[in-house]
Amino acid sequence: MTARREKAAVEANTGAAEPRRLGIGLIGGGFIGRAHAIALRSLPLQAFPPAALPELRVVAEATPELAGQAARRLDIPDATGRWEEVVERDDVDVVAVATPNSMHRDVVLAAVEHGKHVMCEKPLGVDAKEALGMYRAAEAAGVRHYVAFNYRRVPAVTFARQLITEGRIGAVHAFRGKYLYGGNTDPSVPLGWRHRRSEAGGALGDVGSHVVDLARFLVGEISEVTSATRTWTPRRPLSPGSTEYGDVGTDDEGAMLLGFRNGALGVVQASTCAPGRYNNLSFEINGELGSVEFDFERMNELRVYLSDDPRQLQGFHTVRVAGAHPYGPFFYPENDGFGVAFTETKVIEWHEFLGALVHGEPVQPDFYDGYVANCIIDRATSHQSGWVPIEEEPREASR
Ligand SMILES: NC(=O)c1ccc[n+]([C@@H]2O[C@H](COP(=O)([O-])OP(=O)(O)OC[C@H]3O[C@@H](n4cnc5c(N)ncnc54)[C@H](O)[C@@H]3O)[C@@H](O)[C@H]2O)c1
Repeated sequence: MTARREKAAVEANTGAAEPRRLGIGLIGGGFIGRAHAIALRSLPLQAFPPAALPELRVVAEATPELAGQAARRLDIPDATGRWEEVVERDDVDVVAVATPNSMHRDVVLAAVEHGKHVMCEKPLGVDAKEALGMYRAAEAAGVRHYVAFNYRRVPAVTFARQLITEGRIGAVHAFRGKYLYGGNTDPSVPLGWRHRRSEAGGALGDVGSHVVDLARFLVGEISEVTSATRTWTPRRPLSPGSTEYGDVGTDDEGAMLLGFRNGALGVVQASTCAPGRYNNLSFEINGELGSVEFDFERMNELRVYLSDDPRQLQGFHTVRVAGAHPYGPFFYPENDGFGVAFTETKVIEWHEFLGALVHGEPVQPDFYDGYVANCIIDRATSHQSGWVPIEEEPREASR
């Protein structure tokens, strides 16, 4: 905790200062919109005193009816079928973008034009060009921006990064990451926005983008990629049970090799057709002095091998990540017997973002990180053979 945050926490604890209230407008009340609502409501209870008091003031959905339903479900006082109204409201300080990917750009550009800070779901853009425009617009508007790569906020993942940056596993040689999920295995699953190339990135661009972000977070910048993709079900029914079919434009399965600037080699596999897998985000990282291994399906554990352990005790051991580890206060109760779950990763990302916003501190992953992830996915899915260089634009000088 920085000195500024510590002072603010003491003042809030003693009643000397009330945490700042920030109005939040949620755009998109689907699967992940609900997770944001849960996180925003939990934040003041889980982080006491909170850096800020987020207040969900309005939700926008595709139609007024859907917006009304979302508002009732998520207990949000106001609802609209026009997202433009959210970014125009004076009582909204921060906009949370939880819509299908193809809408992110328009919503983000309008929000920053109205001076709103933005939390945007991943992937930031449909492609790197869009994402770069969003990053530059947010910087030019002087607002704070965050891209919701929430797996960085799993305490065990942050702990793995801590071990790596402390040099406990030495120079990293290899990253092996995968994200497997079985939801697309059944060919009768109807065509949705995630199957349209103009709206989504397929297995590599969707779930795979989380692994790419973790590779950068844990190992470092990526200089080149090469990849292959497959689409197992090229046509899907237009709606449940329909006999009318449409073309699938995205991949169900993808694999890529990553070349890191520090010389490490990486492998990423992403699949939405992996029977029996629900949210299997996992990685193993090998360094010259040790290894770490993580699997989201056991998200409160980190497997660690350190070659300087006494010889007779050598072998992977399982560290139960809890109160003594990064984000310890988010374990409830704060002891070693209870873990965190997916929604805590969203609570922690809001805690990080709002804390940085209120205290004027830097925070990542921001839109630049979103842009770099888009660059890597674009190159990986460009169907060029052999290694393809990643030539991202640099960060703006202000950060
Ligand atoms: N960080 C994560 O772990 C994670 C997990 C899932 C999804 N996501 C991302 O979140 C975003 C949404 O995914 P989802 O799974 O919640 O999808 P979803 O389809 O469940 O929800 C999207 C919602 O947006 C609404 N919407 C569509 N058009 C709209 C409009 N014009 N105005 C307002 N709302 C509109 C839809 O009605 C729907 O309720 C995507 O970018 C996705 O990649 C992130």
